[in-house]
Amino acid sequence: MKTIINEMKIRLPAVSQNESVCRSTVSAFLAGLDPTVEELGDIRLAVSEAVTNCIVHAYRSLPRGEVGYIYVSLRAYSDREVSVEISDKGCGIEDVEQAMQPAYTTGDASQRCGMGFLVMESFTDKLTVKSKVGRGTCVLMRKFLKP
Ligand SMILES: Nc1ncnc2c1ncn2[C@@H]1O[C@H](COP(=O)(O)OP(=O)(O)OP(=O)(O)O)[C@@H](O)[C@H]1O
Ligand SMILES: [Mg+2]
Repeated sequence: MKTIINEMKIRLPAVSQNESVCRSTVSAFLAGLDPTVEELGDIRLAVSEAVTNCIVHAYRSLPRGEVGYIYVSLRAYSDREVSVEISDKGCGIEDVEQAMQPAYTTGDASQRCGMGFLVMESFTDKLTVKSKVGRGTCVLMRKFLKP
């Protein structure tokens, strides 16, 4: 029977220095599962993209001085599946399918290239994105670590 062997939840302000905090926290959580260097690198990359999206896009219309939060929820299962859920209570995405198309971006074209979701999809085993305009976005990534 599949059971949860470890879990963790954190909430951080959606500011740029917390991108590395999230990456390091996820690494520390995974270390106990003895992942390969490649698996760890893949998850770190996917986490970076999801967290960066919360920082850059989710709270773009908040008044100056106000910060939103990033919610990270991690789970490790007995069959070596790892789930990483990264969510926000920001502006949401009107058309998720369109947002997930490679090279689609609503950001500043000189800084963003619309590849974040593609990276999350490529470096994990399953990606689910749920979003509601005005309510926020939830990105769930699953990865099956080698035995
Ligand atoms: N958490 C979020 N809240 C609101 N909108 C989002 C969120 N995440 C993604 N989006 C929307 O989806 C689009 C595509 O996201 P994606 O990460 O693929 O590309 P990008 O962030 O624009 O560029 P890149 O990730 O390459 O820097 C974004 O431009 C934005 O419009
Ligand atoms: Mg992005």
